[in-house]
Amino acid sequence: MKYLNFIYYEELDSTNEEAKRNIENINDFTVLLADLQTKGKGRNNREWFSPKGENLYFTIVFKPKVEIKFLTALPIIVGYSMLKLLENIIKNKKIAIKWPNDILIEDRKIAGILIENFKERIILGIGLNVNTERFPDLKTNIPTSLKIETNTTFDRLLILKNFFKIFYINYRLFEKEKKIPKKLLKEINEKLYLKNEHVTVKFKNSIESGKVMGINEMGALVLEDNILIYAGDVKKVRRGSK
Ligand code: BTN
Repeated sequence: MKYLNFIYYEELDSTNEEAKRNIENINDFTVLLADLQTKGKGRNNREWFSPKGENLYFTIVFKPKVEIKFLTALPIIVGYSMLKLLENIIKNKKIAIKWPNDILIEDRKIAGILIENFKERIILGIGLNVNTERFPDLKTNIPTSLKIETNTTFDRLLILKNFFKIFYINYRLFEKEKKIPKKLLKEINEKLYLKNEHVTVKFKNSIESGKVMGINEMGALVLEDNILIYAGDVKKVRRGSK
């Protein structure tokens, strides 16, 4: 991954969708970067707010060297890299990883990661709110941005470059060990959102609930009684609710 090809688009529906449409013509370790997305996609068919010229919307396409069964750890490796990037920029605020791969600053989401498997390749889409000052009104899951957190306007390309420096190192470690390296896992669990809280995890038609114990080396969420969860949406159980 030392050398990345970049393709810049002024406007796209979604960098992940463009990667999939064009998959046959895209070399490994190509990054598709858009200044504006008209249909930015989040997980579970949610929308990703993608106004022009403000934030980072990009997708990396690659064929992983590790077997597919080990890829459950990849979202955590990406999320951890984003966390480290943000820790270098934002001081004195609590930054957390919400399993599997949301990054929150004091409970507000600043970055999202959407990983898709397509034709034996990984389509790794990342959105980072950089310079947006106002988001559409939302009652829950209120987002934030680097600008809101620090009152500073950032150079997006510099941030992108720094992200890849960090991700490259962590991805190589993961490729070598085929799991989340111990040292990283310890820190990830220290910075895990909702650790020791009671949560529900919804996935398609199923629902699990229990106390969050941590993330394991394969990237699964571990609930009390060693219940392992590999996919789903985590919500905190509010006191008094059933
Ligand atoms: C989420 O938190 O729900 C995931 C958000 C992922 C957003 C990024 S922006 C670049 C790439 N293209 C998309 O349409 N989505 C991802």
